[in-house]
Amino acid sequence: MRIAINTGGGDAPGLNAAIRSATLAALKRGWEVFGIKNGYGSVYTEKPFIKMDEESVRGITLLGGTILGTANRGNPFEMPYEKEDGTQGLKDVSDHLVAKFNEYNIDALVAIGGDGSMHIAHKLTQKGIKIVGVPKTIDNDLWGCDVTLGFDTARSIATEAIDRITTTAESHERLMVVEVMGRYAGWIALYSGLASTADVILIPEIPFSYDSIVEKIKERRSKGKNYTMIVVAEGAKPEGGDIVTKGKTLGQQEQLGGIASQVAHELSERTGQESRSVVLGHLQRGGSPTTYDRLISMRYGASAIRCVENGDFNELVVLQDNKLTTIPLSEVAGKMKYVPLDSDIVQTARDVGICMGD
Ligand code: F6P
Repeated sequence: MRIAINTGGGDAPGLNAAIRSATLAALKRGWEVFGIKNGYGSVYTEKPFIKMDEESVRGITLLGGTILGTANRGNPFEMPYEKEDGTQGLKDVSDHLVAKFNEYNIDALVAIGGDGSMHIAHKLTQKGIKIVGVPKTIDNDLWGCDVTLGFDTARSIATEAIDRITTTAESHERLMVVEVMGRYAGWIALYSGLASTADVILIPEIPFSYDSIVEKIKERRSKGKNYTMIVVAEGAKPEGGDIVTKGKTLGQQEQLGGIASQVAHELSERTGQESRSVVLGHLQRGGSPTTYDRLISMRYGASAIRCVENGDFNELVVLQDNKLTTIPLSEVAGKMKYVPLDSDIVQTARDVGICMGD
């Protein structure tokens, strides 16, 4: 058996732990393992596959990023390329990728990624590649999976950052708006905001009203609390308004970001209070994974190899109700997991007095 491992989309803490566990579990079965360098885009390079052995994965569990490299512009069905006239275009190189897999006699692919990667994986299965998916994204927005690898580290880093910003907000009696990642879902904002006892949490699932936030600020002031901590997901938007984006590069996803400074400015205008905004950005993706992320990544990686062994292909390994199971890639493709508004976590935020912007 020869397997390949790919890491696609944005990196996430825990990827290396998953690569290591999948590699070791496969080697233990006497299989050969190849890592795909820098995602499917390497299909053009001389040697897209790196032979993996025990030495290649030694000591990597604690490392952030991915030793294989990854790319956001790595969709083999829409690969960016430079046209003869110097402009950029997109082309379908999926047949080339399949040919490379055949050339290297790859029997199965472990595709570690988020919604974009699983969409690609599903399309590759239709071209005959046998795939087991492993759920990765700090955003935790992969449909059908309770938790994706990388999420716990991202929310922990965000919590620590918000804790730190809270002390300076209090000293200066300011409104502090902290923007966290998460794309179109509010998982990171909700969990880190609640854990750091923020006063306001704004998530994409609940369009917010400035009046409601101002009311919260006034309520706090009336109790002598002259600072307010506001956590905003990058995908949050005001009622009747739009998500703030920085545009889109060909072959890449829409880049989100910038809502925090808008919220800070608007709240300052409305309350007369000094405000500052902070964008946590890629800090949330870098560095060593938490214990939880190391463990879930290892479990996902090894479980993917057990799926390959059992011939359970075209499935995504997931955690549901605290148990590892699999769901068909076809069910995941094109869907997203949003924060359910009736979930206990949203209820808890409301019960402890956090303003959710509505
Ligand atoms: O999907 C993970 C993520 O970190 C999102 O939270 C964020 O919007 C995006 O990737 C940023 O992507 P990039 O690294 O390409 O700027």
